[in-house]
Amino acid sequence: MKTPSDITIVGLGYVGLPLALAFAAEFPTIGFDNDSSRVEQLQDGFDRNLEVDKGLIASSELTFTADDTCVTNAEFIVVTVPTPVTKDNRPDLGPLESASELIGKKLRDRSNGTTTPIIVFESTTYPGCTEDFCGPIIERESGLKSGEGFILGYSPERTNFGDAEHTLETVVKVVSGQNSEGAKVISDVYSRIAKAGVHMAPNIKTAEASKVIENVQRDLNIALFNESAIIFDRMGIDSSDVFDAAGTKWNFHRYQPGLVGGHCIPVDPYYLTYAAEQVGYDANVILAGRSVNEGMVTQVVEKARELVTSDGNLPEKTDVLILGQTFKGDVADFRNSKAVRLTSEMTGVFGSVTTFDPYGEDNSLNRDPFGNDAKYGVVVLAVPHSHFVESVESVGELVSQGGVMIDLTGTIASSQMIDADVHFWKL
Ligand SMILES: NC(=O)c1ccc[n+]([C@@H]2O[C@H](COP(=O)([O-])OP(=O)(O)OC[C@H]3O[C@@H](n4cnc5c(N)ncnc54)[C@H](O)[C@@H]3O)[C@@H](O)[C@H]2O)c1
Repeated sequence: MKTPSDITIVGLGYVGLPLALAFAAEFPTIGFDNDSSRVEQLQDGFDRNLEVDKGLIASSELTFTADDTCVTNAEFIVVTVPTPVTKDNRPDLGPLESASELIGKKLRDRSNGTTTPIIVFESTTYPGCTEDFCGPIIERESGLKSGEGFILGYSPERTNFGDAEHTLETVVKVVSGQNSEGAKVISDVYSRIAKAGVHMAPNIKTAEASKVIENVQRDLNIALFNESAIIFDRMGIDSSDVFDAAGTKWNFHRYQPGLVGGHCIPVDPYYLTYAAEQVGYDANVILAGRSVNEGMVTQVVEKARELVTSDGNLPEKTDVLILGQTFKGDVADFRNSKAVRLTSEMTGVFGSVTTFDPYGEDNSLNRDPFGNDAKYGVVVLAVPHSHFVESVESVGELVSQGGVMIDLTGTIASSQMIDADVHFWKL
């Protein structure tokens, strides 16, 4: 098989847009999205996710389109559509299904003499999904045989958005293909953009499993630290002092307890637990970690209530300020944010709940509290945006005398609050 002469990306979100831009520097590349408003914005150079700046989009040769005919004669297709979960935490394969249907339908109209198309999935999913779920849909819609009329591949996305160090350029990319010839082409194509190199997994299922276990591991480690932080707090021990001491051992790996939100870490484990169930295994450890991390918001609300009432104050007469609403620091992504859930759980328990996130729109619900005289009975630092981390003193000044300062991000050390006339509590 020869190296493709063009690349087509299906789905231009957080993952697809930077990927398409990287490919566009190496190959003629088309970025397709079925959300025409997203495409129009990108054609104007605007990324609503605020991940990619206008200059980069404008200087790229990448073509944006909402016209699916771009898929018909595509030689190398990369699918980066969402893989969320349903309300009952089962894989929601709707976007993968519709993208596979679309690709299959379009391949049916392929011109004679075109090369065998390669279709690489990057969406996070469970082992087996690419070949056993997406492949058959493409076969059905295209009339082509999987592995012959088209070749499947899988290459998980693993860069860390909002983190300038771990990018597509600096992180090794796992690649895989349905057969050795296809895998070789996939590896060659990705080598052009993954400057840190590619790792060839022996097959697609292994590559799919590698992505999901990366996020399961992170979820479980954070769950362990969240649970430990709760236990030590009840014992009157400062958990970060414990982690500092334990961290002096060569094989102790430290994690920061906190809220686990977003569309990867709290979602991907359910893809693996679902797949485990299909082979007759209940993934109890993974689900226990999920349950601890999902319970953290309630733990924080209860702790805030306890601290307020311990001084004889009434929660319903206490004003709360929550700093940060996105799912993690220095990103503009509010999806599945636990800080948003914290806001909603605190509302109704406390007198008023105000929020501020520098990535949110400036309006009456999201007002910058710095630089005015407003003080709050409870201030929760929920998201470690640089905006807050770089001005910890100003954060402390927002708490009223005798009030409660809660840090869920590991930003504020107890020693920094020692002279302040506030109750300080951190995870
Ligand atoms: N965002 C991350 O940090 C991250 C990191 C690693 C892996 N992932 C995985 O990558 C995948 C994509 O995530 P994302 O955050 O980029 O999602 P996203 O929601 O930001 O973007 C997905 C895009 O796909 C488009 N789309 C949906 N269905 C389509 C279809 N049938 N045809 C064409 N376009 C379609 C949407 O309009 C949207 O623009 C998911 O599986 C996710 O788990 C995400």
